[in-house]
Amino acid sequence: MIRVNEHYLKLKASYLFSDVARRVADFRKRHPEKEIISLGIGDVARALPPVCIEAFHKAVDEMGNDATFRGYGPEQGYSFLREAIARHDFQARNADISADEIFISDGSKCDTGNIQELFADDIVIAVPDPVYPVYVDTNVMAGRTGKFTRGRYRGLMYLDCTEKNGFVPTLPSRRADLIYLCFPNNPTGATATRQQLTAWVDYARREKSLILFDAAYAAYVRDPAVPLSIFEIEGANEVAVEFRSFSKTAGFTGTRCACTVVPKTCTAYDRKGGKHALHGLWHRRHATKFNGVSYPVQRAAEACYNGDGPRQIRELADYYMENAARIRNKMDAMGYTCTGGLNAPYVWVNTRTDSWKFFDFLLRKAGVVCTPGAGFGRCGEGYIRLTSFNRKNHVEKALRRIAQALG
Ligand code: MLT
Repeated sequence: MIRVNEHYLKLKASYLFSDVARRVADFRKRHPEKEIISLGIGDVARALPPVCIEAFHKAVDEMGNDATFRGYGPEQGYSFLREAIARHDFQARNADISADEIFISDGSKCDTGNIQELFADDIVIAVPDPVYPVYVDTNVMAGRTGKFTRGRYRGLMYLDCTEKNGFVPTLPSRRADLIYLCFPNNPTGATATRQQLTAWVDYARREKSLILFDAAYAAYVRDPAVPLSIFEIEGANEVAVEFRSFSKTAGFTGTRCACTVVPKTCTAYDRKGGKHALHGLWHRRHATKFNGVSYPVQRAAEACYNGDGPRQIRELADYYMENAARIRNKMDAMGYTCTGGLNAPYVWVNTRTDSWKFFDFLLRKAGVVCTPGAGFGRCGEGYIRLTSFNRKNHVEKALRRIAQALG
């Protein structure tokens, strides 16, 4: 008899963004005449930067010629891309990361979801609440939690992120072995200061824990005092892994390219206290279960760092940040307390009401899709997340409609 992994049965029926998409599809079916604008899932709306397109075309042409054709690429990704990432995203900010500590992949969702495979079943896992649901759901699938009751999985350590702590989790009083942090944060748009990240790194060094740092939204930080990488913090190379993505940085959500940075000095332990380099373990997993990102895509990603690339990707992020300012200003003006939108593409709005009800209300009355805060965890109840990833005219129209609906 073929049996299922019963840990899957503990999951909420569907993934948050699938749930939102299903509700929107149902609404569309019932109201085909209504034009719907999405400020829900964070999916980019503008074309790839011209430098990427040019590099893409050139690489596709190379694939059409026997002399320049490429088959399987190097396991960790092409060195031209890893070198560019190491130099521009890390070394330029005094973060001591080398190209051979970088693993190119097809997305941070996959990498943040897959990395838990490297760790023991009975570790203590700390997740912020609210949180990007992938971190939690993948640990549920792996059997590291109990049942879902009253909005939380038993066995996980939840770190409350509220207006009181500026949506930056405070250090737990108990030991956590694996800690998920995401800054700039999805969903709240909050950022952590150097001091706050230093406290987390010091905690991890003291407790022999590991920080999984999701920096997928680093390109949206505008305040020069905000660290872009955990590796800007002293000692982080021993206790942190970082995830970066071209999805939001350069409009690659449909193109797929990201990277995971595993410093060679970063270690975890076996039950006897023996030390193991995570780099080797992640390399083993990557080589066994992943066959790389296509050559043209890696060339397109590399183009972000050369010539006019940095200016073009900055212009793209600025476009969305102007939308974020529009959203935040409008919601502020209507009397809602907002977080985010200043160094992140998401605006987290305190609606002071049931977040799924608010979602339904906005969809019905304004034809606007948001993401209900409760979908990100119990502390997200009462909030909605609005994304700036849409075209300016759609954002303006959506805001006019929201104002009218809330009228
Ligand atoms: C989001 O809306 O939170 C993101 O688009 C989801 C993702 O990046 O997987």
